[in-house]
Order: sequence, then structure tokens, then C-alpha cells
Amino acid sequence: MRLLLIFFIIFSACDSKASKNKASNASEKKGGQQLTYILPAPKTNGNISVEKALADRRSHRNFQNKAISIDQLSQILWAAYGVTSPNGFRTAPSAGALYPLEIYAIVGNVEKIEPGVYKYIPEEHKIVRTIDKDIREALCEATLGQKMVREAPASIFYSAIFSKITERYGERGRERYVYMGLGHSAQNIYLQAEALQLGTCAIGAFIDSRVSQVLQLPANEEPLYLMPIGYY
Ligand SMILES: Cc1cc2nc3c(=O)[nH]c(=O)nc-3n(C[C@H](O)[C@H](O)[C@H](O)COP(=O)(O)O)c2cc1C
Repeated sequence: MRLLLIFFIIFSACDSKASKNKASNASEKKGGQQLTYILPAPKTNGNISVEKALADRRSHRNFQNKAISIDQLSQILWAAYGVTSPNGFRTAPSAGALYPLEIYAIVGNVEKIEPGVYKYIPEEHKIVRTIDKDIREALCEATLGQKMVREAPASIFYSAIFSKITERYGERGRERYVYMGLGHSAQNIYLQAEALQLGTCAIGAFIDSRVSQVLQLPANEEPLYLMPIGYY
């Protein structure tokens, strides 16, 4: 009996250590209903220069039926809005450092990540699931049938909480600053995708109400932009 008890204590300790490692290594962590992936740390250097990425950047609309990796998704999300300073500053500038953009990963075929919709949490470089199914087909229809949305293994989606900016900057914030910040962030995605030898295309043409419905956006978030990502 005593031997059995010792065995049980050792086994439990090993198991709990293994679960902790799993979570910190970009694996799943189930907290209530929300599946969370702590993403791999992004790289801050690469083999392709900014000049080369700028020269080669193009919008790509045809994607191979091939998964992207969790490292690639992590890198793209970091490029979009990742935290790069202890005081919370990001890869993209934002008026007043107010960061009104919300970023989602729409996952269809990403290695080690279950299909669904995930909200990116820049402060912890993690994604938290908000919808637990592949919504690419419905999103394709909401974007007026742009087939790249259905075919790309993943897409990055932007919405904004305008009140974060308008409380300080009023109408100028609504009409200009949110969109200026979006442009900075989206261009980071274009360049990062190019540097990873992946393709993307900015999509602004869609039915706002349908997109909000398909993505189950909270009432205070307005849909702005969609960027499918994949091998071309
Ligand atoms: C605000 C904006 C909205 C866009 N919306 C779409 C879109 O809905 N569908 C699409 O296929 N391309 C869209 N594009 C991509 C443009 O068509 C593309 O950038 C343009 O043809 C120039 O090509 P390039 O990006 O390869 O240089 C959009 C680009 C911008 C900046």
C-alpha cells in the first residue's frame, strides 16, 4: 500500500511538470471553454532584407492546399501588432499608443492548431479561441465570394474598437488615426509574409454585417480588413 502511494505521488509530479512544459511550448491549454495557444517566441532577425521584401512584395490570391506552421503564424501575428518594448509599444505605430485594433487568426490548416477563430493577445503573445469550427467557407461568402478566403490555410482579420481612439482624439481619431494605424500593421504583414516566402492579399471588399456575424464580433468592434496567408 505504501509503495503504491509513493508511486502515485511520483507519477502525479511528472505529469504536472509535463503539462506545464506543453503550455509554454505553444501547445494547448484548456481554461474553461477557451482553448489557448501560447505562441512560439518570434524571431527578430531573418535571411531576407527589408529592401528585398519591399521589392518582391505583391498581392497573392492563389494559395496551395498546404498547411502553414505555428511558427509562421506566430511570426505574422507578432509582425502585425506584437509587443516590442517593456512599456507596451508594438511593431506598428499607433496614435497616442492607444492600439485600437483587434486581431484575429482564422485557422483552417495550421500545424498544431485546431481549426477555428482565435483572438490574438499581444501582451502575452498567445491566441485564445473564440469560435471552435472552420469558418472559411462562410467568410468567403461574406467577402463576396473571394475564393482565396476559402483556400488559404489561415487569414488574419482586423477589427477596431473606435472608442479607444475617439475618447482622446474625437472625429479625427475615427476618420484618420484608426485607418492610418491599420495601414502600418497590414503592411507589416505583407512584408513579414514575403520574408517567410508566404503570400497575402489585403481584402477590404466585404459585407460588414455578414463578416461581423460570421466572426461573432462583440458589438463594440467594427470589421476592417482581412488578409489570407499561405504558400502561393
Ligand atoms: C484598402 C485595400 C483594399 C483592397 N481590397 C481588395 C479586395 O477586396 N480584393 C482583392 O483581391 N484585393 C484587394 N486589395 C489589393 C489590391 O488590389 C492590390 O494591392 C493592388 O492591385 C496592387 O497590387 P499589389 O498589392 O500586388 O502591388 C486591396 C488593397 C487595399 C490597399
